[in-house]
Amino acid sequence: MDIRTALQQGSRLLEEAGISEPRLTAEVLLSHALKKDRSWFYGHPEEDLDGVAGVRYNRALQERLRGKPCQYIIGRQEFYGRDFLLTQDVFIPRPETEYVVEQALKLAPRPAAILDVGCGSGNIAVTLSLELGASARVVATDISYAALAVARSNAKRLGAQVHFVVCDLASAIADHSLDLLISNPPYIPTGEERGLPREIREHEPRIALFAGPQGLDVYRKLIDEAPRLLRPGGWMVFELGYRQVDAVNAMLDGRWSDLLVVSDLAGLPRVFVARLSA
Ligand SMILES: C[S@@+](CC[C@H](N)C(=O)[O-])C[C@H]1O[C@@H](n2cnc3c(N)ncnc32)[C@H](O)[C@@H]1O
Repeated sequence: MDIRTALQQGSRLLEEAGISEPRLTAEVLLSHALKKDRSWFYGHPEEDLDGVAGVRYNRALQERLRGKPCQYIIGRQEFYGRDFLLTQDVFIPRPETEYVVEQALKLAPRPAAILDVGCGSGNIAVTLSLELGASARVVATDISYAALAVARSNAKRLGAQVHFVVCDLASAIADHSLDLLISNPPYIPTGEERGLPREIREHEPRIALFAGPQGLDVYRKLIDEAPRLLRPGGWMVFELGYRQVDAVNAMLDGRWSDLLVVSDLAGLPRVFVARLSA
């Protein structure tokens, strides 16, 4: 079978199964199977899909048809212009989280001491470390050993200096003088599990998704702990879940000021910022 036919057939299969962006998905999976850029197809539509690549392509299509997200099949996701390797032990970095990084970059002093809680693939911590350069001291935690192994390997591959700690939230962090506490925590209410797309429900780690009946449990604990970790005048920067801005706001006591909520391109409140009073 040639490349053109393989793409047409793959794309049709995916479309019939109701998978979004079937053509693009077929191209991404074929590119993975062939270990070549998508642009290569256009110059070689009549090239034969040889045995090994053909088997890999078929297997990838079957996995996608069973609901596995493309990112887990190909084992990578781009974030803030860099390529992060993934396994199913980590949450897939989302483009919305780039708003959290943007905000942190605006607030971080130079040099900066930063803690990323629940680092997953390491996308936030590694990006901040690389964007801020050697003067930034970045520590990242996760409760999952397996996630931290992925984050560590991403930091090494991308040349970032991040210190990783496995612990519950920030429980093992003794630092009291952080400039920035940043987190994209689990924030989905447990009762919403059935309504999630199967790509998320059946494939992403549960520990990365759910945070109690209202999805607020982790925010509550982080906000309780933040004054112990931040220096006076230090910042807390969180990604917000759907319709959670008011509830998170209500968790703050009089020690917090300079509240800021940043919306994403869809107009949804996405980043929550507050400053510990000096
Ligand atoms: C929504 S994911 C975010 C991952 C990554 N920061 C990102 O933005 O893609 C939440 C992460 O928090 C971690 N996590 C959940 N509960 C935790 C806890 N109690 N302590 C530390 N990390 C936790 C999960 O393992 C997961 O990696």
